[in-house]
Amino acid sequence: MAEALRVGIAGLGTVGASVARLLATKASELTRQCGRDLVVTAVSARSRGRDRGVDLSGAQWFDDPVEMAKSAPIDVFVGLIGGDEGPARAGVKAALEASRHVVTANKALLAKHGVSLAEVAEKRGVLLNYEAAVAGGIPVIKTMREALAGNSVTRVFGILNGTCNYILTRMEAEGLSFDACLKDAQRLGYAEADPTFDIEGHDTAHKLSILSSLAFGHRIAADDIYLEGISNITQADIRAAGELGYRIKLLGVAQRTDSGVEQRVHPTMVPTASVIAQVHGVTNAVAIETDILGELLLSGPGAGGNATASAVIGDIADIAKSRPGFQHGPVFGRPAKELAPYKKALMRAHAGGYFIRFTVHDRIGVFAAIAKRMADNEISLESIVQHAGGTADATQKTVILVTHETTEAAVRKAVDGVTKDGHLVDKPQVIRIERAG
Ligand SMILES: NC(=O)c1ccc[n+]([C@@H]2O[C@H](COP(=O)([O-])OP(=O)(O)OC[C@H]3O[C@@H](n4cnc5c(N)ncnc54)[C@H](OP(=O)(O)O)[C@@H]3O)[C@@H](O)[C@H]2O)c1
Repeated sequence: MAEALRVGIAGLGTVGASVARLLATKASELTRQCGRDLVVTAVSARSRGRDRGVDLSGAQWFDDPVEMAKSAPIDVFVGLIGGDEGPARAGVKAALEASRHVVTANKALLAKHGVSLAEVAEKRGVLLNYEAAVAGGIPVIKTMREALAGNSVTRVFGILNGTCNYILTRMEAEGLSFDACLKDAQRLGYAEADPTFDIEGHDTAHKLSILSSLAFGHRIAADDIYLEGISNITQADIRAAGELGYRIKLLGVAQRTDSGVEQRVHPTMVPTASVIAQVHGVTNAVAIETDILGELLLSGPGAGGNATASAVIGDIADIAKSRPGFQHGPVFGRPAKELAPYKKALMRAHAGGYFIRFTVHDRIGVFAAIAKRMADNEISLESIVQHAGGTADATQKTVILVTHETTEAAVRKAVDGVTKDGHLVDKPQVIRIERAG
């Protein structure tokens, strides 16, 4: 049997401790599958004395993950410390520079420094595996990087944040407000005490930036993503979506267009009958649309210790099975130095259907004025409905429009026009509609 693969784990929190436990409990299964033992020979965390639920006495302890990366007796450095700078970045970089393979679940790190880290990995001829960084346990990176060889991706989109999907699912199922669902998510440990990063779409954007780079061969551009979170989604939107045959999801969408690549994260209406609309609670899903295959949808657990560790262990096993000169190709699907600069498609040029909800003063002529603003901007309407009961105030009405395909620029201009007409009681709500199978 080949020599054991020596594994060093930096970070023994939710994911790291699960990885260490699973490597111990699944040892014989993994040995059979990889043809060699996988042995944890080094670990690093902040608190040495903390019980991690697994016997790590055989592993060398390092207070400093960078020191472990440089000098521990390891073949693979598993980076499971959070953050895009500090010890998380320094540890991964030092390991690659020391020609050690790296496995990480750290999406923030990859979103910011993925390309430069990939350059180091490719120069040193080592692997940088990151399956767990996008959609937790769902094997989407492997699917895109390996299984879809020869396919040209036209669009990749998904539910990439369990916290947001949990909140939207509860809002719809129980008629609760956004704030009530967020509080519950925090109580159950699905949302952080400061939930901004999740609910405003930043976490989804990090993951989307990685998927987009893999799909379209451009350098990661996580700071250049159109972003809208879910905090202004109301029961009125959820109810109207249901009546119109849609469900609201926070999607990350990357799509090739004539003018470049769109990367956008925003609340989205998807047809209730579509497969992605059936993805509830904290579950994640990624849809990949290609020229050969059509649409493929992967769904499953997107976070949590064991789900994320499952992907980390898959990555470690790949390294155990690889041999020098026979690896699964470049980190982001093509050599990092050949990744193209990101050519951003302008959001104003986005083409699609739109849901627009206006709360208006109940006056004669308002309905006609709205219809005129739409017509003036060449927006063709699939439906326009006036809801007398849409608001508690008898002097107000809700007007809901669904457009045929139009552009973002036209919708913004029409909505600005309606706002200037002075009929609105409240801020208008605009939600993009996404085609989904
Ligand atoms: N949790 C998930 O469901 C999930 C899913 C997908 C991806 N991820 C990613 O996986 C990574 C780890 O997440 P996690 O949830 O496991 O985080 P976590 O529970 O907060 O654990 C972080 C670990 O890093 C250690 N650490 C922090 N600073 C350190 C330092 N300076 N030196 C050595 N060790 C240090 C901590 O040590 P102590 O334990 O001693 O404090 C802890 O063990 C993050 O990048 C996260 O984004 C997590």
